[in-house]
Amino acid sequence: MNPEEFRRVGHQLIDWIADYRARVAGLPVQSSLEPGAVRAQLPASPPQDPQAFEEVFKDLDAIILPGLSHWQHPSFFGYFPGNGDLASVLGDYLSTGLGVLGLSWQSSPALTELEEVTADWVRQMVGLSDSWSGVIQDTASTSTLVALLCARERASGYSLARGGLQEQEKPLIVYVSAHSHSSVEKAALLAGFGRANLRSIPADENYAIRPEALAEAIRADLGRGLVPCAVVGTTGTTTTTALDPIRAIAETAREHGLWLHVDAALAGSAMILPECRWMWDGIEGADSLVFNPHKWLGAAFDCSLYYVRDPEHLVRVMSTNPSYLQSAVDQRVKNLRDWGIPLGRRFRALKLWCLIRSQGVAGLQARLRRDLANAQWLAEQVRGTADWRVLAAVPLQTVCVRHEPRGLEGAALDDHTRGWAERVNRSGGAYLTPAILDGRWMVRVSIGSIPTERVHIEALWALMQREVETPQPS
Ligand SMILES: Cc1ncc(COP(=O)(O)O)c(C=O)c1O
Repeated sequence: MNPEEFRRVGHQLIDWIADYRARVAGLPVQSSLEPGAVRAQLPASPPQDPQAFEEVFKDLDAIILPGLSHWQHPSFFGYFPGNGDLASVLGDYLSTGLGVLGLSWQSSPALTELEEVTADWVRQMVGLSDSWSGVIQDTASTSTLVALLCARERASGYSLARGGLQEQEKPLIVYVSAHSHSSVEKAALLAGFGRANLRSIPADENYAIRPEALAEAIRADLGRGLVPCAVVGTTGTTTTTALDPIRAIAETAREHGLWLHVDAALAGSAMILPECRWMWDGIEGADSLVFNPHKWLGAAFDCSLYYVRDPEHLVRVMSTNPSYLQSAVDQRVKNLRDWGIPLGRRFRALKLWCLIRSQGVAGLQARLRRDLANAQWLAEQVRGTADWRVLAAVPLQTVCVRHEPRGLEGAALDDHTRGWAERVNRSGGAYLTPAILDGRWMVRVSIGSIPTERVHIEALWALMQREVETPQPS
């Protein structure tokens, strides 16, 4: 495609996306297609001859759109807000359109320097001290893997330069919570710790790590001659947005020389609100932290910020220096390939830059405050209605609910819960994700899509109350 064709079709494409965003509220939130239905409409083999882009538009409307569940819908309450603010979308286009790769500072200086600047803007926005340095990774999963690799290397005295973990005399132990995201366990396993060396620390009644249980587990492992290595705390767990007590965990980590990584994938966005920062009180005692602007904040996926206290250690663990990537300025610049796993780096900072400039910090703060107030409103309605329960504290934008009609318990209650959630989703009027809490199914209402206003929460609440009354087919 030449630039002139790109200009012509690109304008149509922007129009198509703008129209999509303008009318998405009128579409069923969840796709109702059966598995395989999209694939069945697509040719199994690629076209031999070129096709006009108009053909792609036709298929977008006819095949792709019906196969979407709409994350940018005002009634999307599933998983977490995966907001792609349109200003950020433009930043993403820019990144793709420029087509530059950050293999080194020299391979595209602006890519590296804008990333340094935007990561530092966000550091200031969330109230972190200037002793943190940030870099953009693709996802929290990657950031947490990087954190645990760094923890492993610190505890093992850079074993990667020798025989690696395989030569460690004593196993290194990682402490997580039963409520940590699955990416934490995955990262620990991929980093080679081994399942036998993961400790799941019990949580309190608020689903937060019990610091005394952590200290006990560390002492027990020391007593067995093992090496406590890292602990992962979460600010805003996935199921209930529970808040681990970061200050207490940091104190224990410091006492025993553990690496503390904080996963604030969702909740990090809320830290742009000074009134929310108590939620990660003690964060300055952590070694690394991750938060995903591609969730609630509005940066188009993917954009995960990883902050560290000791960038030299990070670089020592991650760096490679083949001759073809060396340049005369290497001593004076950051080569961000040494700040993570992949060599190739997209110009992701553009979407963060466009988002922050277009909204301003004040605009972003106002939207998040709206969502927090909406969550409180819904929680109040649920609490005030017979047979309904809010199952966990609501510090952020997620409300965990269950409808518990009298006489319904155990598996029958689970069937009822999953049944009404499924009916809500099938109705197309809203999208919710059920999850298991304390061994029983409940429903998470995750508020915070950019277009979601109070009226959408009111409609959701009415829909939920209607669907719990719908009799199950016998
Ligand atoms: C607390 C928490 N950590 C990590 C993740 C994983 O995020 P990512 O998809 O960026 O790896 C999630 C996603 O839901 C999350 O809620």
